Amino acid sequence: AARVVVLVSGGGSNLAALLAAHDDPAYGARVVGVVSDRADAGGLTGARDAGVATAVVAPADFPDRAAWDAALAKTVASFGPRWVVSAGFMRILGAPFLLRFDERVLNTHPALLPAFPGAHGVRDALAYGVRVTGCTVHLVDAGTDTGPVIAQQAVEVLDDDDEATLHERIKTVERALLVDVVGRVARHGLTIEGRRVRLGG
Ligand code: GAR
Repeated sequence: AARVVVLVSGGGSNLAALLAAHDDPAYGARVVGVVSDRADAGGLTGARDAGVATAVVAPADFPDRAAWDAALAKTVASFGPRWVVSAGFMRILGAPFLLRFDERVLNTHPALLPAFPGAHGVRDALAYGVRVTGCTVHLVDAGTDTGPVIAQQAVEVLDDDDEATLHERIKTVERALLVDVVGRVARHGLTIEGRRVRLGG
């Protein structure tokens, strides 16, 4: 199976979905490490419970962003991943990291990119008043949520939604999409032509 490292900052429900899928050899991907920027990320507990190795690379332990980014890259590289999946990782990956894992880093985002990038995709979509939002799995590039789209799924906004209810419905769809995409990418690879991504080597 293709080795995958997952980056998490929070509760890690997307990570949990990947961990639920990876025991099946037919899935094609295996989470071999989970790395967080926060020692208190719930996702780390989930990983440990699943017997997956974890590491914390906290910005406060480094003199500047570049040093943190380089340390993150080194830690992730130590797991020898084929793919890196950012699943609720709330920091921008810098040049040293992306150079090392170029076109092998996937991110999941709770909006239909290029609409509503950034840390508050659900809140911003609600505030804008869109009737349809959703989630996106994309390749990470140097921008904020600007990399080529791999897959998207729509979720309707309901009249009485608030950020929490809408995010919960998005996350249900998002987990299934992420598990599907990571498995397909692991099994078949990706072909990138300009901004267009096709699954398959
Ligand atoms: C997910 O909805 C993910 O798309 C979002 O954080 C949530 C993490 O949930 N990420 C971003 O907003 C990144 N800009 P989880 O910790 O339960 O997987």
